[in-house]
Amino acid sequence: MLNKLKIVQLGEVDSTNSYALRNLSSLDDKTIIIAETQTSGRGRFERKWISDVPNNVYLSIVLKPSGENIPYSNITQYACLVLTRVFEKYKIDARIKWPNDILVDNKKISGILSEMSYGCSTVRGFVLGIGVNLNLSEELVNSINQPATALNLLIKNDVDKIEFVNLFLEEFFKSYDEFLVSGFSSIKNEYEQKSLFIGKNIEINNINGIARGVTADGELIVVDKNNVEHIVLAGDLLMI
Ligand code: BTN
Repeated sequence: MLNKLKIVQLGEVDSTNSYALRNLSSLDDKTIIIAETQTSGRGRFERKWISDVPNNVYLSIVLKPSGENIPYSNITQYACLVLTRVFEKYKIDARIKWPNDILVDNKKISGILSEMSYGCSTVRGFVLGIGVNLNLSEELVNSINQPATALNLLIKNDVDKIEFVNLFLEEFFKSYDEFLVSGFSSIKNEYEQKSLFIGKNIEINNINGIARGVTADGELIVVDKNNVEHIVLAGDLLMI
């Protein structure tokens, strides 16, 4: 299956997401952009993503699904689930922090930045940017301004980047086409089981409460102290 994918391999690039967005019109659906390093790796909310260590994963997938009502935000959630399945192959219990962070022992190991490009009232393409801390030194991990970890530190061994990327792409494309048809409800149970936040006290978009789970469309359900239910579509979840 992997030999059918188009892969653009880059040495240093500003950001695989920026590259994909700049070249979107000439990139086919399911093209993978993978870089050795990035000079301007970006995370959500304009955060910087450390990208100068060659043996980490900096990749973007260009997606141009046809049809209507494409569940774009759910594709990102699907990718999160796929990442947890890949970490499982390394015997690591990775958990999802809604909507799309991957944590191990409450420390971030992977993040996804998905970006959309619009033409005249149509979506030109969707870019799923994935960063994974595969091989980082303890010192570097500790210098990150939020709790972070890396796979090599957890398994106490260097991680083969090609092997990890192949496992991820294999797992992602194994059920991607089917997922586009079946939608989030087909993964809701597994997404919730792999979630870190459910039943916890959280804060998001100035709402404080207990995260109850996710809706059939993947939105976050929070119940505040007055027992009022809030459905959250986007935001930065804090566990308190
Ligand atoms: C986040 O946790 O905020 C998302 C981080 C996403 C980082 C990846 S690395 C590959 C792709 N290119 C970027 O500039 N960002 C994403």
